[in-house]
Amino acid sequence: MGNEMRIVTKESKDNYIFTDIVEIEGQETTILDITNLDSIRKMASEKDIKAIVNCAAWTNVDGAEAPEKRDLVELLNAKAPENLAIAMKEVGGLLVHISTDYVFGGDPYNIPCKEDQKGTPTGVYGLTKLHGEQNIQATGVDYLIFRTAWLYSEFGKNFVKTMLNLTATKSQLKVVFDQVGTPTYAYDLAKVIFDIIENRKYKGNTGIYHYSNEGVCSWFDFTKIIAEFAGNKDCDIQPCHSNEFPSPVKRPAFSVLDKTKVKDTFGIKVPYWTESLKKCMNNLIKA
Ligand SMILES: NC(=O)c1ccc[n+]([C@@H]2O[C@H](COP(=O)([O-])OP(=O)(O)OC[C@H]3O[C@@H](n4cnc5c(N)ncnc54)[C@H](OP(=O)(O)O)[C@@H]3O)[C@@H](O)[C@H]2O)c1
Repeated sequence: MGNEMRIVTKESKDNYIFTDIVEIEGQETTILDITNLDSIRKMASEKDIKAIVNCAAWTNVDGAEAPEKRDLVELLNAKAPENLAIAMKEVGGLLVHISTDYVFGGDPYNIPCKEDQKGTPTGVYGLTKLHGEQNIQATGVDYLIFRTAWLYSEFGKNFVKTMLNLTATKSQLKVVFDQVGTPTYAYDLAKVIFDIIENRKYKGNTGIYHYSNEGVCSWFDFTKIIAEFAGNKDCDIQPCHSNEFPSPVKRPAFSVLDKTKVKDTFGIKVPYWTESLKKCMNNLIKA
């Protein structure tokens, strides 16, 4: 997500600074530890920061369940967003934060989730992301929280890249069909965030929004289309149930997000998931 923000903000009239706790090879990066409130305050004042887009998180869903990681996951997913919110509140700035469909899942439902649906996380990752949202809201800062789902891009490790590789190298593959949701090209979400900031559309519109691409599919369907677009015809892809892949966390069975609010508020058109997938895969294949 952070890498896509780098791309979409290149032509901005605003000045964006990209931070991390470590140097990123080949990319201009300012060192900042977002778990340290005073460091954020110092940078916000020295650089006259008007808005922060927080793309950092603990994102390893199964790894978050390890008892010894619990404090670190809470620190990154709940305390760090609170720090960013406090720093922006103090200077009258905006915090844009990315959250997740994993704040839902505990209660059974089969209609797309709206922003005001009660959070019912099933694991530590979802619970700490929900705490992050609540902490931000409690500071009274101007905020935009985008709950998204099934993110992929050309960067990092993600489902598209994994399945491109597996469908090219394996003769058989089983993928779950009993979890449905909507894939989201991180570039599309980054463009929406960029447009809102660049054109100051957040004024009077702060709050929680749901964003994914359009449409619905299972992980099995997602994999079939990835293989089809890549021309990986020799892999026999079969649907299976989630219980064939035991995991410490029960994933939401129905992760579809209702995007009415984001579309109506900001006047955006959301691309259909296969169209965005094609764009990302074309970029991956070119690279
Ligand atoms: N991936 C999904 O399917 C998905 C779905 C819904 C919502 N989200 C949310 O979307 C956001 C972006 O996710 P993503 O997929 O882009 O995740 P990602 O690729 O795992 O990126 C998260 C980044 O946070 C960095 N980070 C970890 N600790 C940090 C710290 N103390 N200070 C600064 N940076 C730190 C990580 O650095 P290292 O690489 O060095 O660890 C990593 O680059 C997250 O808020 C996530 O919860 C993701």
